[in-house]
Amino acid sequence: MPQGLHGGNVRGLKNLRPSRTLLGLQTGHWSRRVPNIAILGSTGSIGRMTLEVCASLGPPYRVVALAAGRQVDRLARQAAETGAQTVAVRDDEAAEGLRKALPQGAAPEILAGPDGLVALASRDDVDIVVSAVVGGAGLPAALAAVKVGKRLALANKEALVMAGELVMAEARRSGAEILPVDSEHSAIFQAMASGRAEEVSRVVLTASGGPFYRRSDEARKHVTAAEALDHPTWSMGRKITIDSATLMNKSLEVIEAHHLFGLEAEKISVLIHPESTVHSLVEFVDGACLAQLGPPDMRMPIQYALTWPDRHPAPWPRLDLAALGGLHFETPDMERFPALQLGFEVIRQGKTFGAALSGADEVAVEAFLDGRIRFGDIVPLVQRVLGAHDTVADPSLDDILAADAWAREEATQCLTSYTSPR
Ligand SMILES: NC(=O)c1ccc[n+]([C@@H]2O[C@H](COP(=O)([O-])OP(=O)(O)OC[C@H]3O[C@@H](n4cnc5c(N)ncnc54)[C@H](OP(=O)(O)O)[C@@H]3O)[C@@H](O)[C@H]2O)c1
Repeated sequence: MPQGLHGGNVRGLKNLRPSRTLLGLQTGHWSRRVPNIAILGSTGSIGRMTLEVCASLGPPYRVVALAAGRQVDRLARQAAETGAQTVAVRDDEAAEGLRKALPQGAAPEILAGPDGLVALASRDDVDIVVSAVVGGAGLPAALAAVKVGKRLALANKEALVMAGELVMAEARRSGAEILPVDSEHSAIFQAMASGRAEEVSRVVLTASGGPFYRRSDEARKHVTAAEALDHPTWSMGRKITIDSATLMNKSLEVIEAHHLFGLEAEKISVLIHPESTVHSLVEFVDGACLAQLGPPDMRMPIQYALTWPDRHPAPWPRLDLAALGGLHFETPDMERFPALQLGFEVIRQGKTFGAALSGADEVAVEAFLDGRIRFGDIVPLVQRVLGAHDTVADPSLDDILAADAWAREEATQCLTSYTSPR
């Protein structure tokens, strides 16, 4: 009998050979490990759900390290509850705040700054790094985890948008496993297990369309931050919620799929699916389409990324298709939602375009949330920055970080030409 990843039977659902080929996963790599988990971005939406999943899984899954930005009170509580041995925060000020906030008896090692995040992700006592930091700040630690061969449960899609080629090349070299946490990519990963990489004819990423898909172009320009933060099907952090409303998030996911699954732009498409129930589909060369369905609940893909290739029982609500009544799909209007075109453009251009897109988008979203620009200004601002970008071929990590910094600076400069909408 052939041996699988766990040295077990590779028939049926355990036949994960195609996915492993696509993601560079190696037979036998994972079976030697103990599931000690580090959660980067533990105070955020995905981070908090990961803690819930870990508590539900119980031993041997163990949270040994946490990292976050500025929510030190919440982080202190999490450290005390999990007994994490190491905690990293974004800077010295947050480290000081954390020391004060820790309850008596809790005395984890405290690391500060970007280097602290990288050190935490590379520690010997960590087996799985859940990267749930938002934005480009997550890239160095995600790359560090991959370099030393950890399992990376990746929610921080910006790491792949900025440096997908570098990250995937390091994973192939080190044997690191990259398990997608994004529900669309988790769905594709699962569906791909029923065929070989070369048998995939295309993947279809589904998109809810966000709260304004049906609004007129004029009305959409003026939506407020409060309206935009109210996503119809998913409860998420602020940046991804705004990115979902502009459809920029789907562009970032298109780039993520390109890197994770080695797919050219022509093999990736997007469908609007308001119910967020079919998380994505894979079409094979014989015309068969495999989809993964579930309620819009990120705890499922998070758990799968931790336990793969096993499935563990989970207490989350189940899908009730009869109650749902129907599922709807439509082709997105690329003209009305130009953000969607940018992901395909970035794949075709390559180089440092992804880093520039990511940096510019972070500044534009922040400016909208701060009331400095209108909702309708976000995507044109990003397009303007990309239009001015001088790319670097075969970029190193330094080139990528420089392109990200340049795009932030350029976007900030552009902001001076906008008159405040309020
Ligand atoms: N939320 C979802 O349902 C969802 C689904 C798919 C993919 N994702 C992806 O997952 C990532 C996280 O999303 P989210 O919705 O969970 O965001 P979020 O709620 O805003 O959380 C972001 C986390 O990152 C931390 N952080 C920010 N800057 C940091 C820095 N410089 N150093 C250390 N930690 C830092 C924050 O810490 P503080 O809050 O303490 O400052 C927080 O813990 C994003 O890339 C997103 O695209 C999210």
